[in-house]
Amino acid sequence: MDAATVAPSGLLRLVIVGSVDDGKSTLLGRLLHDCQAVPLDQLESLRQAARQAGEPQVDLALLTDGLRAEREQRITIDVAYRHFATPRRRFILADTPGHEMFTRNMVTGASTADLAVLLIDAARGVQPQTYRHASLAARLGIRQIVAAINKMDQVGWSADLFAAIETELRQYAAGLGVPAFDALPVSALQGDNVVTASAQLAWFTGPTLLHYLETVEPPPVPAQPVRLPVQLVVRPTSDYRGYAGTLEAGSLRPGDCVAVQPLGQQTTVRDLLVAGQPAAEAVAGQAVVVRLHDELDIARGNLLSDPAAPATVTDELDATLVWLDERPLQVGRSYLLKHTTTTVRGRVTVVRHRLDPGTLAQQPAASLQLNDIGLVHLRLLRPICADRYAAQRRTGGFILIDPDTNATAAAGLIEDWPDPAHRAANLTLHSGRVTPDDRARMLGQQPFTLWLTGLSGSGKSTVAYALEDRLVAQGQPCIVLDGDNIRHGLNRDLGFSPADRSENIRRIAEVARLFNEAGLLVITAFISPYLADRAMARQVIGADRFVETWVAAPLEECERRDPKGLYVKARAGQIPEFTGVSAPYEAPVAADLCLNSDQFTVSELVDQAWSHLRARGAFAAPH
Ligand code: ADX
Repeated sequence: MDAATVAPSGLLRLVIVGSVDDGKSTLLGRLLHDCQAVPLDQLESLRQAARQAGEPQVDLALLTDGLRAEREQRITIDVAYRHFATPRRRFILADTPGHEMFTRNMVTGASTADLAVLLIDAARGVQPQTYRHASLAARLGIRQIVAAINKMDQVGWSADLFAAIETELRQYAAGLGVPAFDALPVSALQGDNVVTASAQLAWFTGPTLLHYLETVEPPPVPAQPVRLPVQLVVRPTSDYRGYAGTLEAGSLRPGDCVAVQPLGQQTTVRDLLVAGQPAAEAVAGQAVVVRLHDELDIARGNLLSDPAAPATVTDELDATLVWLDERPLQVGRSYLLKHTTTTVRGRVTVVRHRLDPGTLAQQPAASLQLNDIGLVHLRLLRPICADRYAAQRRTGGFILIDPDTNATAAAGLIEDWPDPAHRAANLTLHSGRVTPDDRARMLGQQPFTLWLTGLSGSGKSTVAYALEDRLVAQGQPCIVLDGDNIRHGLNRDLGFSPADRSENIRRIAEVARLFNEAGLLVITAFISPYLADRAMARQVIGADRFVETWVAAPLEECERRDPKGLYVKARAGQIPEFTGVSAPYEAPVAADLCLNSDQFTVSELVDQAWSHLRARGAFAAPH
């Protein structure tokens, strides 16, 4: 651990994880205080408070807790980034107040940090939450963990106890795949081994915590391919067109070939500005303006990337969500997904599992509550240019925003996406126009029109509404069209002559097609007695979406049921051209589905129709 001989890089981003009970506020206060990073007026007011309370020394925890209380009133700021510096190095410390196990603050703080200080109360030893903190830090991409084993004064400065805790944690960190792990004994209260070495800890040959932080070099992040999400198109004059953004990964030089995603085009870099000046190279983390050789229609949210290792353009994701909102996750509800410089609508279609907070074992779950971590599947209205979080933190992470409250609902880590063959089939190139496929995807289904045909009294409407009920209960948006909503409104000018029936069917077919294009499943319940009219409906709606469904019952059975007393009237000659009595019913010759309503119960018929739609891929089986 002798890093002192190595010249440290200028900036270290760190996060301290642990709870208030472990002495986090005190440690933080101690570090800031001993590095003279505390504004003097604040220090003076603490001294005053100590004098008034008759305390011999300033309570350093108040320093950070006081700031926190201030901060909590401004609820939009979750993490305070504290900048401090020593002659050796600059630090950005994500201050993450945490009584809870997985707070939004820890997620936000850790997702930008190079190193995590894992704080442990020596007297209490390794707690279940220690494992959770370490595992979350590892999942968030932290490559170096230093365990600060605190309150050594309370355990008699025991070298053996320190060694036991260190061994246990080292093994755990190795299991998590964290590349670098160290441990240090400290007592934050008195300042032992925080900034100055301690006589009590003479047995410890390693550095103080501050010295460690000043000199440590976290394992270098493996070389990453270029990722430049376009934030702004810069056009100061008509002959200059540049693309501004933060180079999130890789390096860029004039002449480099770049892929423009998701447009699927390639071009080369003409020149670069870094901090407003022409530059021969830009590196990760820098804000740049890039000019390209070709005039392409590039907009905010597009990604310039390495053509040899581009991001994946996908509208479906498997992602780990850390749920950060009091309102639990609602499967099927539309959220805003903010990813790099773009925001798209999307919804969670399935919660694959939730992690047990104690054991991190996978459990089945229907939703995620505040502080839950789980794996979900998401569908997006438009594709994004995604990387796996494990490979690229910036293009692999996102947040979900509740569109009603604007609150951050979750932090997301992209884990995976459907395989390319499946994706290629789904992918449309977006020119800004929403397609029927987009709408259907948003609703999580493939729209069909289940066209029920059959005699009056055969049970078409009964089956239609029962099926609609089942589909909607399962989260599949659906609408029934029948005499009640069509013949009384749109088609109230039509009677029952063959020509009027034909026009009735034509209009219904047009409406069904529109609803299908809106993404809805449609169930129609009309006698539709003529073969030619049903053939026309199939054509209007589209043969791939039209499911001709014969609700079949013998005429005698329908007449026996006679729910509206119409057969009696028709037999008495009071209703002319009544289907089955004085007008024909042309039974389907090759129905896609036959529902024998005289042989099965309504619920069995609904099962049959549901299974048919399911088999045709209208929706996935419910979970
Ligand atoms: S279709 O033949 O044009 O498809 P539609 O399903 O819209 O008929 O309407 C049928 C319903 O209208 C029947 O269930 C019945 O309640 C009523 N109706 C009134 N007159 C007739 C008729 N002459 N023939 C059939 N149904 C009729």
